[in-house]
Amino acid sequence: MKNLHNALLLKQLYQLKQLGYKYTDVTPYQEEKIDLLLPDTLKSLQKQAMTCHLCDLSKSRKKVVFGEGSPHADILIIGEGPGATEDSSGKPFVGRSGELLSKMLENVLGLSRADVYITNIVKCRPPNNRVPTPTEAHTCQPYLLKQIELIAPKLILTLGATAYHYLTGDDTGITKVRGTVHTYKKATLIPTYHPSYLLRNPSAKKEVFEDLLKVKELMKQW
Ligand code: URA
Repeated sequence: MKNLHNALLLKQLYQLKQLGYKYTDVTPYQEEKIDLLLPDTLKSLQKQAMTCHLCDLSKSRKKVVFGEGSPHADILIIGEGPGATEDSSGKPFVGRSGELLSKMLENVLGLSRADVYITNIVKCRPPNNRVPTPTEAHTCQPYLLKQIELIAPKLILTLGATAYHYLTGDDTGITKVRGTVHTYKKATLIPTYHPSYLLRNPSAKKEVFEDLLKVKELMKQW
C-alpha cells in the first residue's frame, strides 16, 4: 500500500502548495488514521475508482474507464489512457484503436474481448489525449496493481511505450523492447506497439503480428 500512501501524501503536499505553503511542519498524512486497503474484489475496486478524485484528470473526465473483460482472464492488456470515445462510453479501447485491437485478438489469438481483460495506466482521459504525467500515472497505479493482483493474469501485454514504461519503470525505447519477453511479478510480460501507432504506421503491423504469435505459443503451454 506504499503507492497509495505516497499518492495521498503527494496529493496533500500539492494542496498545501496551492494554498501557498513553501515549507510545512503540518503533520503529514497519517496512514493509520485512514483505511488504506483497496477492496479485494474487482467490483468493489471499480466502485471505489468511479469516485476517485486523487488527481486532476478527475476534473475533466466524463467517465472513469476502469477496465473490462473476464475477471479471471489469462491475458491482461494494458494501454495508456482513455481517449474521447472511451471517456464518453466508460469502456476501454472502443474507438478506432480499439477496433484494431479487437481484430488482432480475434484473428491472431482467436480471442474475443470478453476472453481477456483490458485496462489502461490511467483510468481517466488526459485532456487532448496527451501522455499521462508521471504524477497522474503514479497516482493511478494502486488501482492497476490491485487489478493485476486480483485478475492474476498469466500474461500481460503492454501496448505502447507509456504502458510499458509506467508499469515496469524501464524507459528503454519501445522499438528496442517490443516483442521481448519479461517476467512481471507472477506473469509473463510482452510489450508491443500501441494500436494507434499501427493506425499511423500500418507497416508496423507485421511486428505486432510476430509479438502476438509469441503470445500464441505461450498460450499452448497453459
Ligand atoms: N488508447 C488507449 O491507450 N486506451 C484506450 O482505452 C483507448 C485508446
